[in-house]
Amino acid sequence: MAKRIEFNQYGDASVLAYADFTPRQPADNEVLIANKAIGINYIDTYVRSGLYPAAQLPSSLGTEAAGLVEAVGAKVKHLKVGDRVAYCQSPLGAYSQYHVVSAERVIVLPDNVSFEQAAAVMLKGLTAYYLLNLTYQVKRDEIILFHAAAGGVGQIACQWAKAIGAKLIGTVGSDEKIAIAKQAGAWEVINHNKTDIVQKVLELTNHQKVNVVYDSIGKDMWLTSLDCLKRRGLMVSFGNASGPVTGVDLGILNKKGSLFVTRPSLAGYVTTLEELQEAGNKLFSMVASGAIKVEVNPNQIFALKDAQQAHKTIESRKTTGSSLLIP
Ligand SMILES: NC(=O)c1ccc[n+]([C@@H]2O[C@H](COP(=O)([O-])OP(=O)(O)OC[C@H]3O[C@@H](n4cnc5c(N)ncnc54)[C@H](OP(=O)(O)O)[C@@H]3O)[C@@H](O)[C@H]2O)c1
Repeated sequence: MAKRIEFNQYGDASVLAYADFTPRQPADNEVLIANKAIGINYIDTYVRSGLYPAAQLPSSLGTEAAGLVEAVGAKVKHLKVGDRVAYCQSPLGAYSQYHVVSAERVIVLPDNVSFEQAAAVMLKGLTAYYLLNLTYQVKRDEIILFHAAAGGVGQIACQWAKAIGAKLIGTVGSDEKIAIAKQAGAWEVINHNKTDIVQKVLELTNHQKVNVVYDSIGKDMWLTSLDCLKRRGLMVSFGNASGPVTGVDLGILNKKGSLFVTRPSLAGYVTTLEELQEAGNKLFSMVASGAIKVEVNPNQIFALKDAQQAHKTIESRKTTGSSLLIP
């Protein structure tokens, strides 16, 4: 018998329960992994709340962890029992001591990357990678706008933009987070509760505005983000922390300067094992070189059984960087 987090109905963090379950054996193309550190992602709260409903209820939760391979399906070529691995984009169920995952979602970890670092950086780091390199190729000296810059994805994006040599303007929700985003490599940081974002972006860009805005806030930030873009700029709407953007009148893109909009997800960019290995190598070599540091705040490392508290904390907007569950 093993332990995992399950929920029977959609709702706030209190629906999460610490339950017994029996892990199944992997099918031909799967591996069974003993999780050692589990990544908490904001998307997990959307699944729990019903914004992104699970296939069925009761459901388990979570899509990212790092650990040891316990059993390998007959057709799996690139993994063996005992390998130190990490995965993301798994079926729901990573909030668990054990998880069965399709082998094409799993990569072997370099020796110098710990389970905690891997679980803290994999999904968020691959997201920062595709956003800054594939959705739009950020260039040296280019000024870009990135919201929630002190968050999990945000701090990695600050570091990646700095490594490219770009000037990332970050937005955050408190003065304490300004120093954190700057420390991570943001060029300038705006506390959006105190300072008008559009005015500040005009000032910082010599009234030019920016070519690209990365917006994971969603509903509350949509119009502000569009107003920060240059003519024919690109709005990258990649999350819904304040609720989804709905009911868009396309004419607004015309009025605000022939703008482009995309609503990307990691699954649209990193789909095959080859794409995962290529992106994973880039990410983990940035971690190994120190260009991307992942230090998880000790009070954001929760025992698996305390997943309720972990979700309350991430939704309170008090967290910075990544958060983990330890089984
Ligand atoms: N599309 C993709 O491929 C993809 C992949 C990964 C993550 N994401 C998205 O990226 C975002 C960041 O994910 P994460 O796991 O790293 O989380 P996170 O950034 O650590 O946490 C979310 C942050 O959003 C900000 N926020 C603004 N308005 C909010 C509101 N009304 N309620 C709660 N938070 C609010 C808060 O920062 P401030 O207080 O500083 O504003 C909060 O800390 C999420 O929206 C997630 O869904 C998208």
